[in-house]
Amino acid sequence: MTTPRILPAAAWADTVAADLAERLRANPALRVCLPTGATPVPVYEALVGLARRDEVSFARATVVLLDEWLGLPPGDPARCDTRLRAQLLDRLPVPPAAVHLIDVDAADLDVAVARHAAVAADLDLVVLGLGMNGHVGFNEPGSFADSPTRIIRLAASSREAAMARYGAASVPTGGITLGMDRILAAREVWLLVTGARKAAILRRALRDPEGPDCPASYLRRHPNLGVIVDLEAAALLS
Ligand code: F6R
Repeated sequence: MTTPRILPAAAWADTVAADLAERLRANPALRVCLPTGATPVPVYEALVGLARRDEVSFARATVVLLDEWLGLPPGDPARCDTRLRAQLLDRLPVPPAAVHLIDVDAADLDVAVARHAAVAADLDLVVLGLGMNGHVGFNEPGSFADSPTRIIRLAASSREAAMARYGAASVPTGGITLGMDRILAAREVWLLVTGARKAAILRRALRDPEGPDCPASYLRRHPNLGVIVDLEAAALLS
């Protein structure tokens, strides 16, 4: 049974950031895949603080983006690359060549997908948030443990959650996501979950039989899975 690490909300982000800093100290050339969304925002803020105090460095790390919307112009504030840059990358000394975003502006999206799958073939750590419908990255319900990096049609519930998150009237219907296969092939995976509204889906992901209705449930197959949650998200775990 997966045993989550349960932290008080006030300590959660600093603890996750400190853990990531520790991974980077142990392996300065860490190849890490990072999500966007609301969950990691305080972690990124804490990481920027650590970097300013020289307690963490991304100078030799490689950063790989987890997923990206299709159909938003470069620089759109809702784009995952725009958000990761604003929240973390532009605030740290990270060599641009070590940042791998997803080239959703490419003329040939199949090439962009293949490139991203290749870049993500050798990851030390994948950090994930948890969707309200059990998605990880844009691996929506219907995804399996071997689902590859691909173009995906987004679930209506995910689009609604994103519209609420961004206060947007509309969000794209598709995206490109790192596949479940690449996530499960990484040397370590962290699932970050906060807030009472995630309590039921976290319980589903960790305690009920695994299945494609909740792609996050496949993470339990990973031999080195860290589930780092706050007390509110853990409320229904027993
Ligand atoms: C974001 C991503 C999504 C989110 C998930 C949770 O890059 O891949 O899977 O992690 O939708 O979103 P928040 O954190 O906003 O609740």
